[in-house]
Amino acid sequence: MASKATVRVHPDVRLHTVNANLYGHFAEHLGRCIYEGVWVGDHPKIAADDGIRRDTVEALRAVALPVLRWPGGCFADNYHWRDGIGPRAQRPRRHNLWWNQPETNQFGTDEFMRFCALIGTEPYLCTNVGSGTVQEASDWVEYCNSTQNTTLARLRAENGHAAPYNVRYWGIGNENWGCGGNMRPEYYADLYAQFATYLRGRGGDMKLIACGSHPGIPQWDERFLETLKGRLGLVDYVAIHIYSGHGSSDTDFTDDEYYRLVIDAVDGMDRHIRRVSGLTQTASGYGHEIGVILDEWGTWFREATTPTGLYQQNTMRDALWTAASFHCFHRHERLFMTNMAQTINVLQALVLTRGPELIVTPTFHVYEMFKPHRGGRLVASSVTSPSISTAEGRSTDAVSVSATVSEDGARLFASLVNLDLSAACEVALDAGADWRLRQARRLGCADVRDHNTFEAPKAVQPEALPADALRPDGTLSLPARSITTLEFEPVD
Ligand code: AHR
Repeated sequence: MASKATVRVHPDVRLHTVNANLYGHFAEHLGRCIYEGVWVGDHPKIAADDGIRRDTVEALRAVALPVLRWPGGCFADNYHWRDGIGPRAQRPRRHNLWWNQPETNQFGTDEFMRFCALIGTEPYLCTNVGSGTVQEASDWVEYCNSTQNTTLARLRAENGHAAPYNVRYWGIGNENWGCGGNMRPEYYADLYAQFATYLRGRGGDMKLIACGSHPGIPQWDERFLETLKGRLGLVDYVAIHIYSGHGSSDTDFTDDEYYRLVIDAVDGMDRHIRRVSGLTQTASGYGHEIGVILDEWGTWFREATTPTGLYQQNTMRDALWTAASFHCFHRHERLFMTNMAQTINVLQALVLTRGPELIVTPTFHVYEMFKPHRGGRLVASSVTSPSISTAEGRSTDAVSVSATVSEDGARLFASLVNLDLSAACEVALDAGADWRLRQARRLGCADVRDHNTFEAPKAVQPEALPADALRPDGTLSLPARSITTLEFEPVD
């Protein structure tokens, strides 16, 4: 039997803007993310434009990622950018330390910039603090952004790009509490200041991103910010990492493991983001605004190990968790960007490839369906809903809602998720009298373990709902395990 919920959306109660960069992503030299997923060189069977895989570009253009972080991850602090420029035949082969695989350097800065241009995304580069130098990082900025007649700017032109790339987002190291050098926060803070001074000195519109904590080391951020007192103007964002789902299998999981992900893990992210938002807000009190970025997040299941190149399947569980997570992110005014890990063939991927074949995942569909939220103004909403709970009794609302009004006021967009695995929900929706439904879509499934495979690539995909999905009396049925989006236009 269907349960009942009421949802009130208040389009006139406008809150903060949902930063488009919350829908960013992350691609690392790891497993088959870059090599095979993006770069195929002159592979005889995979269509490519000068080495960059065409079907990947086409798929990613559909989700229009606002920003893409590269080259890592742990790989970033093992990467020397000069290895990846110039004639490809002369580039050195190295050992990718953390992911135990060869690094051919066929895909480097200029290839990444071309990939970003092809998919219409803004680059975010992470510099090497763990095994690199201040000079190397500063030179990378010069190579990418300089407009002057310098040797590095001329080298960029010789490599095919006379115009500067104008890269805005620069990360200073990655996980420097772990793979990025096993540093103490105080030591990293001083190194950070040194790197940031020389990067900032290059001028231009540049945002500097510091390595922040994960929930297991909450003191990292306090100690980092405390050490930098008096130098906090060097920090634009603190970037935290949160992975979820450890121990569970990608497709062979229990209902309770699902509930733990959409209840406990979303709640855990919410609390950690709130904590770091508070700390950065206090630090901003010294006169320079510091925001929070979640530049690695997503599911990490037990199939994803170093030997498998962190490959895992992606089911409707991933999609439901992603939708619930975005609803949470929308509420965080001081969260400026998130970058799910990772775009292709690694962890919670948007796209999976097998040789020349490519499929998109249920998570891909959430990114695509939620596009209208980006850059919109969050509006107040309230929900009265039955609850779902874990075996231990922790609970949350079965129905999760987020609504935004586009900047020009011409569209109200609401996403409604029914997280319940078994009960459909009859929702009484009140969005006020000034809006009428323009279109509705749904991503649903027969089983939360449903996923796309190379044999059944469209097993999970969104469908358009008929115009009367929202009945004249304002009621709407939400099937169990489903994500519904409603787009409204103003009544003339
Ligand atoms: O995304 C996989 C790895 O997870 C990244 O390289 C690292 O930053 C994190 O530990």
